[in-house]
Amino acid sequence: MIHVYQAGKNSQAPVLVLLHGTGGNEHDLLGLGAMISPDSAMLSVRGKVLENGMPRFFRRLAEGVFDEEDLVFRTGELKAFLDAAAAEYGLDRSNMVAVGYSNGANIAASLIFHEQESFRGAVLHHPMVPRRGLQLPELPGMPVFIGAGRNDRICPPHETEELQVLLSGAGAEVELHWENFGHQLTSTEAQAAADWFKRTFNT
Ligand code: MLT
Repeated sequence: MIHVYQAGKNSQAPVLVLLHGTGGNEHDLLGLGAMISPDSAMLSVRGKVLENGMPRFFRRLAEGVFDEEDLVFRTGELKAFLDAAAAEYGLDRSNMVAVGYSNGANIAASLIFHEQESFRGAVLHHPMVPRRGLQLPELPGMPVFIGAGRNDRICPPHETEELQVLLSGAGAEVELHWENFGHQLTSTEAQAAADWFKRTFNT
């Protein structure tokens, strides 16, 4: 997959896997990553699907309606990419933390839903429930930060809460941060994610 890799100053700090929103690319979240964990290595990936020229991580049939077959396929593809990138760059695969926004948060959540060994933790900005009716793997103590907007029409609050319940039910420790805005990623939300990250991973 097309990506940017930036080595980190601290090899013990979690590697951030940066996953952009619809229409974004592998450069978009590098600034956010630097704010969340300045000393971490960054692996920032571009989604392979194009929707009217806009990169995404999986196809959708309409806004908020996912192409589940493609989602499952792309989730496996991302997993394989992360495994290979860890080997290529000499990274600890068990020390990767996802940082995703919108469509990128959704593929990160999908990977967490499908794979036992997905991420050490995750920062999900404005995620949705990637799939329903699935038995989640056990996620004992997995730290997850969810940033959400009370007026987000793309990821409505009830869906945020549903995701929180599903992840917590599998054992994850979910912190939910609300903004009184819509789907946009605000600087206060990014700062809250950075504060959570420092508290959680002692970076
Ligand atoms: C998605 O398709 O993943 C969500 O609707 C978020 C978006 O990318 O707009």
